[in-house]
Amino acid sequence: MSDWWRDAVIYQVYPRSWADADGDGIGDLRGIAARLPHLVELGVDAVWFSPFYRSPQHDAGYDVADYRDVDPVFGTLADVDAVLREAAELGIKVIVDLVPNHTSSEHPWFREALASPPGSPARERYVFRDGKGPDGAQPPNDWRSVFGGQAWTRLTGPDGAPEQWYLHLFDTTQPDLNWEHPQVRAEFESIIDFWLDRGVAGFRVDVAHSLVKAEGLPDFPDAPAVVAGSVEQAPYFDQDGVHEIYRRWRALLDARGEPARIMCAEAWVTPAERAARYIRPDEFHQAFNFDILECPWRAEHLRTTIADSLAATSSVGASATWVLSNHDVVRHASRLGLPPGTPRPQGIGPGDPRPDPVAGLARARAATLLVLSLPGAAYLYQGEELGLPEAMDLPPEVRQDPIFERSGGTDAGRDGCRVPMAWEADAPALGFSPSGASWLPQPHEYRDLAVDRQRGVAGTTYEMYRAALRIRRETGLGSAAITPLDLGPDVVAYEHACPDGVVLGVTNLGAEPVDLPDGEVLLRSDTGTAQGPAHVGTDVTVWVRRE
Ligand code: GLC
Repeated sequence: MSDWWRDAVIYQVYPRSWADADGDGIGDLRGIAARLPHLVELGVDAVWFSPFYRSPQHDAGYDVADYRDVDPVFGTLADVDAVLREAAELGIKVIVDLVPNHTSSEHPWFREALASPPGSPARERYVFRDGKGPDGAQPPNDWRSVFGGQAWTRLTGPDGAPEQWYLHLFDTTQPDLNWEHPQVRAEFESIIDFWLDRGVAGFRVDVAHSLVKAEGLPDFPDAPAVVAGSVEQAPYFDQDGVHEIYRRWRALLDARGEPARIMCAEAWVTPAERAARYIRPDEFHQAFNFDILECPWRAEHLRTTIADSLAATSSVGASATWVLSNHDVVRHASRLGLPPGTPRPQGIGPGDPRPDPVAGLARARAATLLVLSLPGAAYLYQGEELGLPEAMDLPPEVRQDPIFERSGGTDAGRDGCRVPMAWEADAPALGFSPSGASWLPQPHEYRDLAVDRQRGVAGTTYEMYRAALRIRRETGLGSAAITPLDLGPDVVAYEHACPDGVVLGVTNLGAEPVDLPDGEVLLRSDTGTAQGPAHVGTDVTVWVRRE
């Protein structure tokens, strides 16, 4: 079977924030259709859309009320079909998001469960339990929501008396499904078929490691106060039973024949060997490599993370799937500029340490060229091709991420990486919306970073991305075997055995410049002027073709 995904570059569109056609300040499918040529100009192979399904939008669409329909805010099913058609004409594959851990509390199943008495079949599709203590006033266990606060909410019966509790690993409006229930399994297989029939190339699977919970729902006293990213041994993450679900799904995808339909796991699982279990040959095709995203900007950490990731993925015959930014984390142009030792946050608010924007962008560009040189697939997050920084000064009243509210405002939440795109410097809302409306205000720095300011201008981040994707395609970097080179403790360097010759990739994280290897410079992440063109300066990556 074709294995296009192994070295594909896939661009994440966050539909709320990419392009707004109807002027309401929220991106939509008609806006997406109009901007698809950007993906061709950039040179990606596929696009992944975050959810556009019918949803009350309490978690920006990751709270799905109808998996087979489109939310009116984004358009209609006919609009999705038009996007699929136009993307196919442009040669861009489309991956959609699948959210199986929980539904919205407005999903008909959950409404039915609420209207049905404790112990009724309708409640079996979710995780309802009696509370602890004589009057059931204590939650059934001590689990905490990933978004802060407890993971259980108590219902009030029709007579006003308190009754059972339901589990929600995320917001209260995102009740967890009971994946032991055959109807739940059958329903998602049918949803997968529904979208395959419409022509999607695959699925990104939301919190793929959390569907199955440990039997008996045991307490988890060792849980960190904030459950972000990977938590080893949590009774609600990475349970062995989850793999059986994905083997079934893989069979559904494989049954569609050529070209391969794929699925990519969002599984915040460590260590790399555990994560690799999700990409065994009969499960996912890809799993985001979050180790690289969380890796500090230190050469020894990067070298180890890359080696471990490649070893773990190849141990199961899979390829690596590199990612530096997405809609849940601080944009890497800001994250990599944070003072050393700062935890990798999900957002940056008024009281948090601030990044150095110049170092952040230089490192982001160097990091991007590093991961785009590595064998495997790569996911890009909208706006990173412009070097957009995190929006850090959003006023509290515009913040919409439930994390902000559930943490009592102590955690800024993820809105700062979700601010709408910058297309045209002099257009209303920077070309995002014809009316000038924007559901989150765009920071003033975005203006000079707009696509039209960078297009065709040598040395810009946008032109660096375009060149990188072109060279990656021409040289076959994404599928070339690599051998580490020792150019000093602060340098990450590899020899890439491409079909038409050897390419060297050198990333310098040290204070001193290192000599440029002999050969033709294919691309560099800086302009080559700071520490001289004969050197790889601090926080710079250079690709060189050996002569
Ligand atoms: C995933 C999504 C995130 C969402 C959460 C709950 O982590 O990427 O945006 O809030 O799942 O669905």
